[in-house]
Amino acid sequence: MSLININPTTTDAWKNLTRHYKKMESVQMKSLFQNEENRKENLSLNFESLSLDFSKNRITEKTLEHLLSLAEQCKLNDAIEKYFGGDIINVTENRAVLHTALRNINDQPIMVDKQDIMPEVNQTLDKIKSFSQRVISGEFKGYSGKKITDVVNIGIGGSDLGPHMVVEGLHYYKNHLKTHFVSNIDGDHVVEVLKALQPETTLFVIVSKTFTTQETLTNAETIKKWFLESATEDDIKHNFVAVSTNLDMVKAFGIAEENIFTMWNWVGGRYSLWSAVGLSISLAIGFENFRAFLDGAYAMDQHFKNTDFRDNIPVILAMISIWYNNFFESESEVVIPYTQYLQKLAPFLQQLSMESNGKSVDRDGKKVNYQTGNIIWGNTGTNVQHAFMQLVHQGTKLIPVDFIGFEQSLYGNKDHHQKLMANFYAQAEALYAGKTAEEVHLDMKFKGDTNLINTLLPFKVFDGNRPSNSILIKKLDPRSLGSLIAMYEHKTFIQGVIWNIYSFDQFGVELGKELANKLLIK
Ligand code: F6P
Repeated sequence: MSLININPTTTDAWKNLTRHYKKMESVQMKSLFQNEENRKENLSLNFESLSLDFSKNRITEKTLEHLLSLAEQCKLNDAIEKYFGGDIINVTENRAVLHTALRNINDQPIMVDKQDIMPEVNQTLDKIKSFSQRVISGEFKGYSGKKITDVVNIGIGGSDLGPHMVVEGLHYYKNHLKTHFVSNIDGDHVVEVLKALQPETTLFVIVSKTFTTQETLTNAETIKKWFLESATEDDIKHNFVAVSTNLDMVKAFGIAEENIFTMWNWVGGRYSLWSAVGLSISLAIGFENFRAFLDGAYAMDQHFKNTDFRDNIPVILAMISIWYNNFFESESEVVIPYTQYLQKLAPFLQQLSMESNGKSVDRDGKKVNYQTGNIIWGNTGTNVQHAFMQLVHQGTKLIPVDFIGFEQSLYGNKDHHQKLMANFYAQAEALYAGKTAEEVHLDMKFKGDTNLINTLLPFKVFDGNRPSNSILIKKLDPRSLGSLIAMYEHKTFIQGVIWNIYSFDQFGVELGKELANKLLIK
């Protein structure tokens, strides 16, 4: 069964939220903190080693009540059941949506077309495990009999962004294999990557769910040509593997059957890093770590599935985001991890959220009369403080922020980490508290800048009252990263349910492809 079709603006909860917004639009968070003794504790949630502090939002318990009623009235519970249960909720592509099955470690049967898919999922995981172990140990050799030293992931979109983000994100856990990514059809990209490589010691992993993507096939062909300058067609089986649903096309490319890792139509590209699409992750950090990454996601799945909405981290994040998007009319959200390892998190989340929820037709086929998908952007702290944070602090737009920080650094440099985390906390505090004209006045006087007060004071005022969530995690490791990504996947799903759109198709990327092909034919 598919998702129930409800225009959210017709619900009582939406109407209540519209009224409630009028009361809340000018409320200062500072006064909320003054009036609620335990606001920070009340508006914090914990999950394993992750804690979410959402107290610095322009919300009260009443706001949450209305938002959670909206979730109920849009039948989020029913949607969650269908999502995990393998119902055909991707109606426009006539598919189930089961990335959660890929990390279903308790192995409970999940039925698609009356068949349990878990045996196939486990078989593929076993294949990923044994293949990764053979490559890492050196047992699997390139065509000339030498050990593999480099791995190149050839793919784009979901077949690149997820693996790339995780391989970089978990670099600390990496083994000796060097991992490279080729995605862009820009020929200079592939040349730059190939420059550093020896064909005989490089493993090429072609990742394409459809195996029809222009960028990936063009890059794969170019690489094959380069490879054949020093090897033979028969050698392809030693140095090329593929991940795809399109077995015929993969074989036609010349890849040996035993080197094909299957995936399934019920895994969307942007949700596929848990499948064999994550092969380059398993190669880079070893299967045990890949498993821990899946375990972390599974744990978040259980939290999402089994926790009351009020204590449910993805639900709270999704509904607060809807509050700003649909009532405060804020158009974007920024995600700022305070670790350089997660530099690729924002591009990954951009595809996850924007390709999923960038829709303007509802599940009834009608144009929506409300806002849907947010613009997602971001980069790492503290770098962003010297780039775009000026606009977030003093610009005209309301931009809610997710700050993500880690209690421990991986190499244990205390001095750096204290400074990093001081900035993590300071940014949220500055956005929340701002700096009044009186405070600026006093500050300037104290610093001996009295003569400048008349000219500079207004420019140094920070309005404050700018919202943020702080997500604090003990340590960046495979398990916590798995949980974090699953959290954002579920947030994306929830928002699509409330906005009454189909989050799992991506027709919006087709027209550009078609036109580019027409231009090529001319
Ligand atoms: O950009 C559109 C898209 O279809 C994405 O959804 C997908 O992740 C990407 O292209 C790559 O697709 P494939 O894995 O089939 O090559």
